[in-house]
Parts: sequence; C-alpha cells; structure tokens
Amino acid sequence: MSGLDDVIAAETRLSEVDGANGRLVICGHSLDSLAARKSYEAVLALLLPDLLSANEEAVRAELGQARLRVFREVAWLDADLISLSVTEGLRALMARLPDGEDKSVALLQIAAPAVFLPALIRVRQGQKPVPPHPGLSHAADMLAMLNGRQPTAAQAQALDTYLVTVSDHGLNASTFTARVVASTRAGYASAVLAALGALKGPLHGGAPGPVLDMLDAIGMPDKAGPWIAAQLARGERLMGFGHRIYRVRDPRADALKAALTRLGAAGGMNTNRLALAEAVEAAALSALRAAKPSRPLETNVEFFTALLLEALGFPREAFTGVFAAGRVGGWVAHAHEQIETGRLIRPQSRYVGPKAA
Ligand code: CMC
Repeated sequence: MSGLDDVIAAETRLSEVDGANGRLVICGHSLDSLAARKSYEAVLALLLPDLLSANEEAVRAELGQARLRVFREVAWLDADLISLSVTEGLRALMARLPDGEDKSVALLQIAAPAVFLPALIRVRQGQKPVPPHPGLSHAADMLAMLNGRQPTAAQAQALDTYLVTVSDHGLNASTFTARVVASTRAGYASAVLAALGALKGPLHGGAPGPVLDMLDAIGMPDKAGPWIAAQLARGERLMGFGHRIYRVRDPRADALKAALTRLGAAGGMNTNRLALAEAVEAAALSALRAAKPSRPLETNVEFFTALLLEALGFPREAFTGVFAAGRVGGWVAHAHEQIETGRLIRPQSRYVGPKAA
C-alpha cells in the first residue's frame, strides 16, 4: 500500500513493462526491436506522433532547432549555478524555460537536458560550452557538445541506444510525477521539472554513479565476492540490482550490455573495465540469491548504464542528467496523454491520525 505496488493509476498507449517475463514494449515495439535499430528521434515520433510528428526526419529537424534555442539559456550559467551539483544545476537551468501546453514548449523541454548537461559539465571543468549543430542526430550532437568534437559512429550509436532504451518505462516514479503535474494543467515545463526532481533520488535515477563507486572500491575481479558479502552483511543495498516491477532480468540491462559490447568491438571501451563489471555482476547475483532466496533480485538498467556513460566520457555526477535526456521524451508523452484525458489526478488518503477532540 505505502508504495502503491500493483495499483493501476493510468491507461497508456506509450509503454508496457512486463515484469514477470522481463519484456518492455514501447508503442507496440519490443525494446529488442528498437534499441540499436531505431534512433531516439524515431522513438519520439512513436511516442508523440500528434504533438510532434510521426515523421522521424521532421522530428530530427525540429529538435535540432530546439537545441539551438535552448543554447541561448546557457549564457545564464553563473558561479552560483556551477557550485550546485550537476543535477541541481540542470534543474535550475530547466526552470528558466517557458511553460505551457504547446508544441514549442514540449520541444524545448525534450531538447533541453541534452544541451544544458554538456554545457554544465564543460563549464565546471573550466571549458567553454560548445554550441549545438542542428544537422546532427540528437545523440551525436550531445556528445559533440560534451567533447568539443564529433563522436565516432560507434559512440553516437551507443548513446542513441541508451536514449532509446530509457525513453519510456511505464508508470515509474518520475513519469507518475509528470502525469500528476500535467493533470493540473500546469504545463510541460512544470511537469518535466517535477519529474526531474523525482528522478534524482538514488532509488530511481541516481543509482549509476554509485555503481561506478562500487566498481572502483572493488578494483579487481577476485575482490568482488568478499566486498559484496561485506556490503550485504552491513545491510547495504547493491546499486544496479533489484527492481520494483521486474522479477527477472531487466531487458534494458541486456540492451545496454549489447551496446557496450559493440562499443568495445569498435575500440571505444576499456575491456578490463567490462571484465571487472562482469565479475561484479556474477558475484552480486550469486550473493543476492543466497541472501534473499524468496525475492528475485536481478541486474537492472543502471548497472550497464554506468559503464556505457563512463565509456562515452560523461562524469559520474552527470549520469542522472543523461538519464533525464532520454526519459524526457517519455515524460512529455505521458504529460501529453494525461492532458488529453482532461482529468485531474486526485487520489484519496486514509486518515489514521488521532480522532478530533
Ligand atoms: N541490494 C540488496 N538488497 C536489496 C536490493 C539491492 N539492490 N534491492 C532490494 N533488496 C532487498 C531489500 O533490502 C528487501 O529486503 P528485506 O525484505 O529483507 O527487507 C527486499 O530486497 C525487497 O526490497 P524492496 O525495498 O521491497 O524492493 P523495492 O521493490 O521497493 O525496491 C529498488 C526496488 C529498485 C528500490 C531496490 O531494488 C533498490 O534499492 N535497488 C538499488 C538501487 C537501484 O539500483 N536503483 C535503480 C532502479 S532501476 C531504475 C528505474 O527503473 O528507475
């Protein structure tokens, strides 16, 4: 009850999370058929055909222009903002964008994390922000704005696969937040800003940074078993494992592991790092099975996210923001769907406090 497990709170055509079978369907397409096969822009066209366009090329052109418009706001990056955490800085910049329920507002929101995040990272590292190139794909441009040079095809495809993989995922905490805010008719910007707040927690989108901390603390594959045993003995959770819905392996973990393997084959990934991760994953799964035999705890999306984003050059404190750059498509699509229902979300609570005197 306290976590609303199994409560159906919305009807959606956007995505279905089949936790028993480890399957994710986005707008009638299985994740397997989307990841590495369709671009992020193509998935946006599936998620928002009437608000944006059902045409991938049209979405790509409009999103490119939206990135240019968002980049104007980068001028507001000042010392106060840079002293915040990356996610808080992103939240502050996102809050500057106009609100409303029209397409232009939706496009700015979808474009914004991919522009603000690289700028924030560069300025914090003492470098100048790099303006967007609207002709590039969303993923390639995000990497170009991060590194100041065009990415290789393998790097651009790896980030594209990531953005597609996390684009939508049923009624997760941040998406539910976006729907609640949109139902009040506050506008897309308010819905996305609230969703970003929900995403930032370590039980939702804040886990991949700690996954790398865990890998660093373990250091060598043969240290994985003892380190994990000690962690569980202290009652700590292993980041990157377990899920509220999935009772088998999270299909997104496989999609990202495949993307990592492709990146490794193209020379864009430290293979020792991948070997360490595989050893840690195997040790964690075996320890979790022994510690919680009645509760299936499998690898979730965040485990391989951490490795992929690290290999692409994102600092770990920015991982939640990259997650937002992909999930924002789902947030806006759910906000749009909720607005279309015309219904305010307003559940009830059961009062368990003292009786009135
Ligand atoms: N490591 C160790 N024990 C765990 C873990 C874990 N990662 N996850 C759950 N458990 C244990 C938990 O301690 C509890 O044990 P007990 O019954 O003895 O108290 C039992 O499993 C059930 O846990 P729960 O809190 O009821 O499970 P939940 O459905 O609320 O938790 C979760 C889901 C994702 C919050 C949790 O698995 C977790 O904290 N994982 C680590 C953080 C993480 O990887 N987060 C990213 C989630 S995936 C991104 C997304 O889709 O948003």
